[in-house]
Amino acid sequence: MSTPSSSIESTLVENRVFEPSEAIRKAARISGMEAYNALCAEAEKDFEGFWAQRARETLTWSKPFTKVLDESNKPFYKWFEDGELNASFNCLDRHMGTPVENKTAIIFEADGGEVTKVTYKELLAKVSQFANALKARGVKKGDRVVIYMPMTIEGVVAMQACARIGATHSVVFGGFSAKALQERIQDAGAVAVITANYQLRGGKELPLKSIVDEGIAMGGCDTIKDVIVFQRTPTACNMVAGRDSFMHDVMEGQSTDCPAEMVSAEHPLFVLYTSGSTGKPKGVQHSTGGYLLWANLTMNWTFDLKDNDVFWCTADIGWITGHSYVAYGPLAAGATQIVFEGVPTYPNAGRFWQMIEKHKCTIFYTAPTAIRSLIKAAEGDEKVHPKNWDLTSLRLMGSVGEPINPEAWMWYYKHVGGERCPIVDTFWQTETGGHMITPLPGATPLVPGSCTLPLPGITTAIVDETGNDVPNGAGGILVVKKPWPSMIRTIWGDPERFKKSYFPEELKGYYLAGDGAVRSADRGYFRITGRIDDVLNVSGHRMGTMEIESALVGKTDLVAEAAVVGRPDDLTGEAIVAFVVLKRSRPTGDEAKAIAKELRDWVGKEIGPIAKPKDIRFGDNLPKTRSGKIMRRLLRSIAKGEAITQDTSTLENPAILDQLSENN
Ligand code: PRX
Repeated sequence: MSTPSSSIESTLVENRVFEPSEAIRKAARISGMEAYNALCAEAEKDFEGFWAQRARETLTWSKPFTKVLDESNKPFYKWFEDGELNASFNCLDRHMGTPVENKTAIIFEADGGEVTKVTYKELLAKVSQFANALKARGVKKGDRVVIYMPMTIEGVVAMQACARIGATHSVVFGGFSAKALQERIQDAGAVAVITANYQLRGGKELPLKSIVDEGIAMGGCDTIKDVIVFQRTPTACNMVAGRDSFMHDVMEGQSTDCPAEMVSAEHPLFVLYTSGSTGKPKGVQHSTGGYLLWANLTMNWTFDLKDNDVFWCTADIGWITGHSYVAYGPLAAGATQIVFEGVPTYPNAGRFWQMIEKHKCTIFYTAPTAIRSLIKAAEGDEKVHPKNWDLTSLRLMGSVGEPINPEAWMWYYKHVGGERCPIVDTFWQTETGGHMITPLPGATPLVPGSCTLPLPGITTAIVDETGNDVPNGAGGILVVKKPWPSMIRTIWGDPERFKKSYFPEELKGYYLAGDGAVRSADRGYFRITGRIDDVLNVSGHRMGTMEIESALVGKTDLVAEAAVVGRPDDLTGEAIVAFVVLKRSRPTGDEAKAIAKELRDWVGKEIGPIAKPKDIRFGDNLPKTRSGKIMRRLLRSIAKGEAITQDTSTLENPAILDQLSENN
């Protein structure tokens, strides 16, 4: 069980409550707790009828569904299966002939500050043209396409174009290494990769295409027939004859009209890889109908979207947040959104505030790790404090990806939101497709550090190890009791792992989120206490400890054994600490530093820079029980610098604890 950051513990005594103002409540779609409770009661009374009505109202179907939920092969639930629709049609075509047609869909701000805007009509033309280009290259319904692109309009176009022709996309975050990319291409059996020559971040030009080349060259990617390259910068890149082409070349001459391919609601819209508790990332498979329903509906519920909103979700399209709240949700809901290529600290840590002012952003959705780093920057330099910008356009703010500590919440509320804007602390996961537990801005009284209550129709609960409810105030395992439309459908190519990971028998068939949680005694509000499996959350990025361990022991010339744990970190939430036994004697001093650097770079190459351990400790051995099991709870204490108070009587080699506690 990974330990949540200590500062989060202060929520236990949190008693500040922020009620929605009268004005916000009156203007909201779900207005007041009575309205929220009424929706929950409606879902409780007629579960399928509740979802059917939302699906009919929220989406446009080319063929209406006749059955809502198929539970005949649990836990492989199916929603709206005989209905047909297309996700791209629902994000673009559906708005044609309405006032949204000529509305700005995307305000793109490049790393260097240049701004490009596209309307819904223009975006539809681009997506159609690229969809036609993909078809001309032989990409068809059911094929998998890997997208390895920067945050750009073209990244969204690539995703939408795949959806338009019924190809299943798998976006790989641009920070992942060649090896990680190769594994994902292989696992998905992708026919094409869409990438860019370079990406621009923080004033630097970083390669993408050469990483694709390197990944494919590692072998096992024979399914790839095409690599399509968006030319982001003028810099040349290597192009392989017969395989590689430029996006602008393949689009040239293609029609801007491409009728959307209608697919079953259960057709896999995308597969997105995420970390689990084994070394191998899981390809989380999402549906078309249920997923899009939730992406759209939560835009209206959680963000209470209005026609004139300027929505900004800062997440990268390589993560689920960038799927649901950049590539699909805002477009399906007809919003104007900001897409940002760069990083929050370039050219200085005032960039977010400057952009909110410049684009008159009204809804801002970001991660606690970004907030914490901007607090630190503002405390160190007055000039990048949000008070220097006019942020009065903001009316609502959100948080996602990790627990937000009350101190950061209060700063965000006060200095960014001007004590005027509600904060929706949205708890959800790659697997859930969209928000699960979150305040509603016009209804829920806010408590800093708490994601409050589940959305209507979402049956989250806290149970013990046998699946029985625990009382409020007692901690336990977070589960979802009933299926929901946007839930993960399976793990790509591994249905057994899907069943085992998410629906363990002892939990009565409930969905196991993998987080610990506690409900407050007074309001029944949920507070997430952190992962209960071997998954870490570093700057809101999910990392499997086993994944990092297998990367480390993959350095076979050097490493004999490795164990990775998390340690609370004020800035990144958790930090990665690796305990390593080398095949040679234990290094100290400068030699230890040099080897630690070598290993860090190695992990960067194996997985990506986000997986590099912050701290590497060397030992002659690891603390093990007599039966040879590594005692991770002891390593967690050592990583935190805590005195060992746990029982060490089963330990084979107690002296090792002192050695590992030393900083070598
Ligand atoms: O531990 C929870 C944490 O992030 C995990 C999901 O990570 P991922 O699939 O990468 O999706 C992140 C974006 C949705 C969860 O199991 N988490 C996410 N949101 C919150 C959170 N923890 C506390 N509060 C949140 N609001």
